[in-house]
Amino acid sequence: MEIRIDLAPKELRKAPELKSPPFGKIFTPHMFIMKYEEDQGWYSPEIKPFSEIKLHPAAIVLHYAQTVFEGLKVYWGIDGRIRLFRVWDHINRLNRSAERMCIPTLNSELVFEAIKTLVLIDKDWIPKEKGSALYLRPFIFATEGTLGLKVSREYLFLIIASPVGAYYKEGFDPVKIYVTEDYIRACPGGPGDVKTGGNYAASLKAQAIAQNKGYTQVLWLDAIERKYVEEVGSMNIFFYLEEELVTPMLTGSILPGITRDSVLKLAPLLGVPAKERKITIEEVIEGIERKTLKECFGTGTAAVITPVGKIFYKGRDYIINREETGKITRLFFEYITGIQYGEKEDPFKWTTLLED
Ligand code: COI
Repeated sequence: MEIRIDLAPKELRKAPELKSPPFGKIFTPHMFIMKYEEDQGWYSPEIKPFSEIKLHPAAIVLHYAQTVFEGLKVYWGIDGRIRLFRVWDHINRLNRSAERMCIPTLNSELVFEAIKTLVLIDKDWIPKEKGSALYLRPFIFATEGTLGLKVSREYLFLIIASPVGAYYKEGFDPVKIYVTEDYIRACPGGPGDVKTGGNYAASLKAQAIAQNKGYTQVLWLDAIERKYVEEVGSMNIFFYLEEELVTPMLTGSILPGITRDSVLKLAPLLGVPAKERKITIEEVIEGIERKTLKECFGTGTAAVITPVGKIFYKGRDYIINREETGKITRLFFEYITGIQYGEKEDPFKWTTLLED
């Protein structure tokens, strides 16, 4: 399918100065949009000026949240070349999320073409400063106007792009996290292992409570026993415990994060033993008390790697590594961002270079 291109007026295409742009508030002048109708399949792919969209007030997404999304980044390399990080993994996960939410899947090649065309049209909006990137947000949602609860017969697929700096105001300084025992993020059999809006909406209440108490994010425990660590905020979590990097194994209620996978794959190359297994919160607390748990960090596309310096659990704060960013955390942050900005060798060929 040919992507139709309708460019925005020249005066709207000029990029502003992009120094540490706030996360997700500025958008490039163009977006990709494609429609779906049951009897036609996906049709009419188009890049057009960024604009609002018209929706039927009974659109299924507004009432029953039939929607999925991705988040991936484009980097301006130190060699002046444009790099996408693990783009095919993001496209595959988008389709896996769609499949879980009864949304028609997309042709991966077309999604790649859409990403590439959009990025090259708006390439002046890719921030050049290290630590910044162009964040792409592909998303699909159900547009059929009906209040009946059913699988929609109509959808829209869009890709919007936003120049971004650090996700947390702390930047690369350790964040404080709050272990909630009252709320859960996801449960076995639920959609916790895919990127659908409802998972994020469901996390807001506990997140608000944590923030009111002065913490940055929530640490989520498993739904059944409230015993096993699952995720931190909207990120996966790693602990450096007894000289080994451990992260909760994917049990079905944890998102298979792409940065998580990058850390696990790089670990043997960086000489750090790493393992996926079940981890109890008691084990984490004990590790902090005995000083065998030396570091903790979250991983996600938006924040890349975020060190954790403090954990609140059962009425007490536990401090990790004197609330300083640790060696192992820094090693993975430097290596992954090094690949992303083209400074370090890319042993798994994760980056895709985009050229005009
Ligand atoms: C990401 O890390 O890209 C996410 O999807 C999290 C989002 C809440 C910004």
